Amino acid sequence: MAKKAATVTIEPEDTTPVTEEGQIINDVGDLPGVGPATAEKLKEAGYTDMMSIAVASPSDLAEAADLGDAVAVKIISAARKMANVGGFETGDVIADRRSKVGKITTGSKALDELLGGGVETQSITEFYGEFGSGKTQFMHQLAVNVQMPPEDGGLGGEVIVIDTENTFRPERIVQMADAIGLDPKEALSKIHVARAFNSHHQMLLAEKATELAKSKNIKLMIVDSLTAHFRAEYVGRGTLADRQGKLNRFMHDILRFGDLNNAAIAVTNQVHAKPDAFFGDPTRPVGGHIVGHTATFRLYLRKSKGNKRIVRLIDSPHLPEGEAVVSVSEEGIRD
Ligand code: GTP
Ligand code: MG
Repeated sequence: MAKKAATVTIEPEDTTPVTEEGQIINDVGDLPGVGPATAEKLKEAGYTDMMSIAVASPSDLAEAADLGDAVAVKIISAARKMANVGGFETGDVIADRRSKVGKITTGSKALDELLGGGVETQSITEFYGEFGSGKTQFMHQLAVNVQMPPEDGGLGGEVIVIDTENTFRPERIVQMADAIGLDPKEALSKIHVARAFNSHHQMLLAEKATELAKSKNIKLMIVDSLTAHFRAEYVGRGTLADRQGKLNRFMHDILRFGDLNNAAIAVTNQVHAKPDAFFGDPTRPVGGHIVGHTATFRLYLRKSKGNKRIVRLIDSPHLPEGEAVVSVSEEGIRD
């Protein structure tokens, strides 16, 4: 049933910035006007690479690193020269990249159909729902399924897991791999797990992932949970803008990872437990419009009877809304 998915890897372009003398600049601290103390402050504020500085506003940067506005402008313009800000692509290049989109089966035919074939590469698919709704189960299932050959609904690839809640369970991978006839040990060896201790660490891991993808055929990146650290660390209305800014940057980093590596990105997200005074909706996912606009596919998971879960596709740009009922069993996710 699975459509034959392309597994062509798009090689990242070499955008290594160099000085006029040909020396490689790859650290924020190498920018003119940035000393070690400023570099440290910038990195702490999340300005860890050229692009993030290139697209920053001078006042934000000045505030983040206690700089004068003029110095901030100078740093930004240097970063712009070094980062590949260009960004225009012709339609045929985009069409060519889209033609390589691969799909990973979820384990449920009904849900695959709802998604137009499965979880897509070059997109972010968000699984949100309350505790115990099965988000982490889906992440484990995808981590196994992506390893299958294309004819069986996989992409023959490896996985990166950014685990923020310490919920990755090798035993679960073993069960799921066994159930589809993959060697459990081999399956585990293709899943690269990093525990993220806080939101800043989580952002750094997205960068590390790019490095790992140079030597491994990574076809799926999982972030479970996308928002938990951000939610815990930025408490109160006053911190909202800062939190959303960081979350936005993270979302774009992982989306870029998906584009460069033709990999799928699957993330989990919680819902606001209590009805919100402003919105009144108890099923609102965390992260607001930032997450909503960047995720291409949003799946809302609800508990049903026993091991049944209802998965609803929410505002997808090109697929009709709909629901699928799945079950979570010993073998994993099934119809
Ligand atoms: P939070 O991370 O707490 O928000 O929840 P979650 O949505 O990630 O939930 P998770 O995916 O951890 O789902 C947990 C549920 O999956 C359990 O309550 C069980 O119903 C089911 N589950 C987990 N492992 C197994 C298993 O080995 N066998 C079966 N049959 N069900 C399992
Ligand atoms: Mg979970």
